[in-house]
Amino acid sequence: MNKVVTCVAPVNIATIKYWGKRDEHLILPLNDSVSLTLDCDQMHAKTSVIAGPFIDEDSVWLNGQIMSIETNERLKKCFHLIRNLIKIRKGENSQEAKWNIRVCSENNFPTAAGLASSAAGYACLVYTLANAFGLVDEDLPSIARQGSGSACRSIYGGFVHWKAGIDDLGSDSTAIQIAADTHWPEMRIIILVVNDSQKKTSSTVGMKQAVETSELLKYRVQKCVPERTKEIIQAITVKNFEKFAEITMRDSNQFHAVCLDTYPPCVYLNQVSHDIISFVHDYNEAVGQIKVSYTFDAGPNAFLFIQQNDLNLFMSELVNVFPSEQPNSSYLRGIISTLPYEV
Ligand code: PMV
Repeated sequence: MNKVVTCVAPVNIATIKYWGKRDEHLILPLNDSVSLTLDCDQMHAKTSVIAGPFIDEDSVWLNGQIMSIETNERLKKCFHLIRNLIKIRKGENSQEAKWNIRVCSENNFPTAAGLASSAAGYACLVYTLANAFGLVDEDLPSIARQGSGSACRSIYGGFVHWKAGIDDLGSDSTAIQIAADTHWPEMRIIILVVNDSQKKTSSTVGMKQAVETSELLKYRVQKCVPERTKEIIQAITVKNFEKFAEITMRDSNQFHAVCLDTYPPCVYLNQVSHDIISFVHDYNEAVGQIKVSYTFDAGPNAFLFIQQNDLNLFMSELVNVFPSEQPNSSYLRGIISTLPYEV
């Protein structure tokens, strides 16, 4: 191979959150999660790969900076798993498994700011490597998962369910598509960037501390997530927005409650995040129906779900309350994400 292969992978936004691992090394989650993958035109990672006998060593560039593969266990693992897959598919002695690989990746949005950059990044890395070696394969979500858990969901478009599984080796912990990206054409996501600096506590550290110290996490995993997962999949299937929206908000709130129940607590939301939460509830109450919902990952930035017909009215209220470039205050920037088709 001596051509450059380039792929793009979008971020995915979880409506049922993954938080806590049952196996740190294999990145096996404690609970199922459900997400919606954004349109490729919006927030995405773009990765180019070239491989061949003429490349002198493996190298990875992220956003213009060279990364150390040796000290990055997850990168090393993805390279290793792809080479294993080459041997499985093309024979133990395949020369291609010995080739060095050069990777160049960039995100068109802030990295490590609670905006799901690692999900897009690892999904894109694994997908591009696989394409470069002609390996479009059902194992890709499992390999992406071992780069960053939530990356397994970005391998697919539309609505995706990552099943936690019960196997100790992770054979049943994989992502499946619940519905294609064309399933719910009215659905829109508004991303409000409250703060795009890197988060204080990485999701890896936050999850580990939660598993070790949070009683609420145990309750959530056993008593709440299984039922919620079934309900939200049903709501997505029949396009019941109110149900979908309520479960999404409840799950985001519970996830952040687990973060606070962690000792010492992990605080990802800030005052602007809480103001957005209040604003959404006030808005829904004023219109007498759940028209919009929020969810927050491991950061203060808000992801809002709304349907196209309700967008204009909501946006006019939103910009009144949160003008975008206020001097001396946390700024807020809106991105409206459409799914990849014309409505
Ligand atoms: O895949 P990670 O390690 O970046 O963890 C993602 C955690 C959340 O974004 C908070 C939830 C999720 O399911 O995406």
